[in-house]
Amino acid sequence: MKQLFEAHKIGGKTLKNRIVVPAMVYSIFRNDGYVAEENIEHYRAIAKSGAGLIIQEATSVSNTGRMIETQLGIWEDEQVTGLKRIADTVHEEGSTVVIQLHHAGLMSVDGVRDCPSDFSVPVMFTLAMNGKEMTPHTLEQVKQQFISAGRRAYEAGYDGIELHGADGYLISQFFSTNVNKRTDSYGSQPGQFALEILKEIRVITSDSFIIGIRLGGFEPTLEKSTEYAKLLEPYTDYFNISSGFFMNSSSKPSKPEDYPFSENVYAAEIIKKAVRKPVFAVDEITDLQMMETILEQTNTDMVSIGYGLQVLSKNNQK
Ligand SMILES: Cc1cc2nc3c(=O)[nH]c(=O)nc-3n(C[C@H](O)[C@H](O)[C@H](O)COP(=O)(O)O)c2cc1C
Repeated sequence: MKQLFEAHKIGGKTLKNRIVVPAMVYSIFRNDGYVAEENIEHYRAIAKSGAGLIIQEATSVSNTGRMIETQLGIWEDEQVTGLKRIADTVHEEGSTVVIQLHHAGLMSVDGVRDCPSDFSVPVMFTLAMNGKEMTPHTLEQVKQQFISAGRRAYEAGYDGIELHGADGYLISQFFSTNVNKRTDSYGSQPGQFALEILKEIRVITSDSFIIGIRLGGFEPTLEKSTEYAKLLEPYTDYFNISSGFFMNSSSKPSKPEDYPFSENVYAAEIIKKAVRKPVFAVDEITDLQMMETILEQTNTDMVSIGYGLQVLSKNNQK
């Protein structure tokens, strides 16, 4: 039986336990994407919680693909020095850290919002959002931005990367057949964009570098997401199951009526039945007892705690 506090291997790295702190944007300090002193102390505090794996918040691979102006960035080589300080700090505290690579696509803060196809969301946070179909040239450029970001993460000393392929951002927009109406192979095979990025990052890093993906559990259905997981399995070390593209009504997370945990945990349990690689459960997991129960009942491999992080810090101080 899986134990919460047992060492566990993800890709080529051994984690000290099965607890994950999921990516949570906390960047409010600068608007050039560079790491501030506050970011470093923030990650030191998170690492002190004792979680086995820390996922650094969504960090933008592109200056123009940020979701907020103050988002952390990994779009230029000069940003590596600051990022390295975060990776080193988490290591000093005895934990493992991967960085989440992100592009907001349609939800970018301003400018031309790159999207697999022309797509409009009428009102989102009071702003209309109009995504513009990426040309083959732009698509290739953005793909290379992800790959270069993977290289920078490796140089900065992170243990790995997590490709943000969920929650409605650019890669989720590719997966979503509600949004992605392209007539080229990136449309006929909506998983191709993510697959090529994962594959290339492996080529330029090492076998022990963790390459994971956050995938929507309902993109737009659990069956479709399971297909994506199987497609990507040869190129990824783990699946972290979250929400899909959520800005229209055809993506409806659901679970059996009597299921005791969240829809995303349910999706993780079902996807785990179809793949051999580790699957992470996340969403509304509030205490250690619940974590243990989820590991036991769902056969997932890692459990996440975001909002409830204080629970972990208190346990660690005992
Ligand atoms: C303030 C905040 C920021 C977040 N930022 C990110 C992010 O950068 N990337 C991401 O994939 N999810 C992000 N999330 C979602 C969390 O990773 C997680 O899935 C969510 O909080 C549910 O887990 P919880 O119930 O344990 O908090 C964020 C959530 C919150 C509350």
